[in-house]
Amino acid sequence: MTGPTPGARLLGSGSALPPRVVTNAELAEKIDTSDEWIVARTGIRQRHIAGDGETTATLATQAARAALDDADLTPADIDLIIVATATPDNTFPATATKVQHALGCNGGPAFDVAAVCSGFLYALATADSLLRTGGATRALVIGAETFSRILDWEDRTTCVLFGDGAGAVVLEAPGLDTARKGEAGILATRLHADGAQHDLLYVDGGPSSTQTVGHLRMKGREVFRHAVVNLAGVLGEVLEDAGVSAEEIDWVVPHQANARILDATAKKLGIPPEKVIVTVDRHANTSAASVPLALDEARRDGRIKAGDLLMLEAMGGGFTWGACLLRA
Ligand code: UT7
Repeated sequence: MTGPTPGARLLGSGSALPPRVVTNAELAEKIDTSDEWIVARTGIRQRHIAGDGETTATLATQAARAALDDADLTPADIDLIIVATATPDNTFPATATKVQHALGCNGGPAFDVAAVCSGFLYALATADSLLRTGGATRALVIGAETFSRILDWEDRTTCVLFGDGAGAVVLEAPGLDTARKGEAGILATRLHADGAQHDLLYVDGGPSSTQTVGHLRMKGREVFRHAVVNLAGVLGEVLEDAGVSAEEIDWVVPHQANARILDATAKKLGIPPEKVIVTVDRHANTSAASVPLALDEARRDGRIKAGDLLMLEAMGGGFTWGACLLRA
């Protein structure tokens, strides 16, 4: 086999969505918007919103348990937990430590990664590095968010766009003596950030600046423009790193911000829309949770199969962006 040596292998995935669904029509009763505007501009039809007692940690734990079940493993098999989130339960300690305690597998490292909508890609790359270099054996990598708690529900330009949820994967170190050794795994990852774009998408509060949690603020049109350019660029880089052509990709598993961004990015790469996993219509933008939620849905409904070549990609506040090529 030519090309890069595969890294961490995907053993299982899981998700968690709060049961409460809020439709566009329900939002239109409270703010000056309409189902027609939201669907036409974003593709979003509904979102899940966390209720009393549901937090980022509870959703993350639920998704982690589902991923462990899917991988036929128990918490005792896990020695690394990374949670990607911009909406942690507490400023500290990390939500990952709450998940670790809830699962009952204390001892190994557990920490959060803050890269907003790209957080799952950043967490995946971090886990892959630790697993490749012997820092851990089996990892839970989770994207979990409760963005409903940082939205300004009177700002129609942002509050209609986001939802809550969590997705998780179990990864295993390469080199372990399991089936399909040498074939499956993470083939290439690229991460980027451009701090000059801070003010286009940010939260206007924080412990060290305002001593408040703050609300999400976004200049949507400008973010949109950057997203298409940055994503096309990083996807090209990862393909080149792995020595793979766009035609060889079986499935694109993108961050779900806006159906129009998904379409424009796929078009730029020459990938047909049928190969793009779409959940934005039902989940809206769940930030760091959106890629693992989409991945889990497509694995469970049988679209993504063992051996398929997957392109995961995301872009978000910071700006941060990244992509990962993975053989399932
Ligand atoms: O996950 C992190 C990355 N985030 C993103 O990638 C988001 C990227 N941006 C977007 O998805 C789009 O820019 C939006 C969906 C946020 C907005 O779509 P747009 O086509 O860029 O619309 P716009 O912001 O240019 O607004 C067009 C009009 C404005 O009215 P005027 O100024 O033309 O009279 C807005 O006030 O639509 C108005 N508008 C709304 N109307 C009804 C904005 N929000 C709403 C709304 N309902 N909820």
